[in-house]
Amino acid sequence: MQKSYKLTCIYFVLTCLMLFVAARSQLTEDFYVKTCPNLFNIVRKEVRNAIKFEMRMAASLLRLHFHDCFVNGCDASILLDGNDGEKFAAPNLNSARGYEVVDTIKNAVESACSGIVSCADILAIAARDSVLLSGGPLWKVLLGRRDGLVSNQTEANISLPSPFETLEAIIAKFIAVGLNTTDVVALSGAHTIGLSRCAFFSNRLSNFSGTGAPDSTLDSTLISELQSACPVNSDGNNTVPFDRNSRDLFDNHYFSNLLNGRGILHSDQTLFSSDAAVSTTRSLVQLYSNNSALFFSDFINSMIKMGNISPVTGLNGQIRKNCRVVNP
Ligand code: HEM
Ligand SMILES: *[C@@H]1O[C@H](CO)[C@@H](O)[C@H](O)[C@H]1NC(C)=O
Ligand SMILES: *[C@@H]1O[C@H](CO)[C@@H](O)[C@H](O)[C@H]1NC(C)=O
Ligand SMILES: *[C@@H]1O[C@H](CO)[C@@H](O)[C@H](O)[C@H]1NC(C)=O
Ligand SMILES: *[C@@H]1O[C@H](CO)[C@@H](O)[C@H](O)[C@H]1NC(C)=O
Ligand SMILES: *[C@@H]1O[C@H](CO)[C@@H](O)[C@H](O)[C@H]1NC(C)=O
Ligand SMILES: *[C@@H]1O[C@H](CO)[C@@H](O)[C@H](O)[C@H]1NC(C)=O
Repeated sequence: MQKSYKLTCIYFVLTCLMLFVAARSQLTEDFYVKTCPNLFNIVRKEVRNAIKFEMRMAASLLRLHFHDCFVNGCDASILLDGNDGEKFAAPNLNSARGYEVVDTIKNAVESACSGIVSCADILAIAARDSVLLSGGPLWKVLLGRRDGLVSNQTEANISLPSPFETLEAIIAKFIAVGLNTTDVVALSGAHTIGLSRCAFFSNRLSNFSGTGAPDSTLDSTLISELQSACPVNSDGNNTVPFDRNSRDLFDNHYFSNLLNGRGILHSDQTLFSSDAAVSTTRSLVQLYSNNSALFFSDFINSMIKMGNISPVTGLNGQIRKNCRVVNP
């Protein structure tokens, strides 16, 4: 009698634990409402400070969340230091930025609620606030991610899309992480803010793919502008804004630029101009260019989907103390 009572008790506790863990395997809006009630204010304030100092930081923080989520899921693996980690992968080296700002945000959050909030969630909130503070839409960011333990450079080299790839290859990389063609177009609209280095598009400015001429999908006025921004003998590190008329404003001009041959990267222009775009992305580019509300609502959906790529939850991973290193 006594023994079976004990057993029942143990089963009950175990079931409760499993339910608890299962419940936590879904991201939720109110994950920190009890444990870190001031979280949203703290992050917003730090993002605002960073942007006041350098407006481009909004773009850089948004991109960090993207580059985190595409590699091993949204687990802050991009933030781990080390020469053999993601920071030194081809798409990130000398390119991804904002790590110091993430440290500042994390320190402010730790001061208020120590050991509670993951670096992966901080990236998601900072990306959301960056869009908002750039004039873009606001959404309810889902939380409860935990931080991963490994940073995989090979995986970053493989999974992140490159500006030199075909539209088919880029779509395939999105599909590989559970996103679709609509997400490709909507999320590419992030290139309404931020800068690109010449190294990523100067191949379009002369003898493109051995044709003896610049990329024929590129507007001729833009060719001259980019040629003077990227002199032939410069090292490729000069930068130009993606959206040359409203570089810091999160709007739908990225898409009207594509209609006018003014996409900076080949991977941008290909969403409108390639043969493959006709049956996949072209009509959405046209829709977004003329319908900012539709772009904003699709962008929100796609950001939430992207933020849900293989999150670490439950008892897996950890809450890092310092976003750059796994806890000792
Ligand atoms: C579709 C495939 C994509 C490709 C090939 C691509 C490629 C690039 C490249 C080459 C740069 C310039 C980096 C540099 O100059 O160092 C860049 C910048 C940027 N990307 Fe993308 N990107 C893609 C999708 C996305 C997505 C999905 C987002 C976010 C949702 C995003 C957000 C950004 C932002 C905001 C910047 C500017 C960063 C800054 O100024 O610091 N990109 N991207
Ligand atoms: C990632 O790509 C870069 C540049 O191509 C290369 O130098 C590096 O060795 C690659 N890393 C791994 C682990 O494959
Ligand atoms: C890193 O990613 C590659 C490619 O996906 C995979 O083969 C490898 O096992 C991963 N390494 C670790 C340590 O997870
Ligand atoms: C992409 O997925 C969303 C749901 O997440 C769906 O509404 C949309 O229609 C899909 N787009 C395509 C082209 O399949
Ligand atoms: C363009 O590149 C191709 C192949 O890379 C080369 O054969 C050709 O001579 C180049 N043309 C010009 C005008 O530089
Ligand atoms: C840009 O600057 C970095 C760091 O100063 C340097 O290593 C790199 O070779 C430069 N050029 C390109 C094309 O990235
Ligand atoms: C944008 O949509 C409106 C109707 O909503 C239409 O009258 C207009 O011609 C469209 N403009 C472009 C450039 O497609």
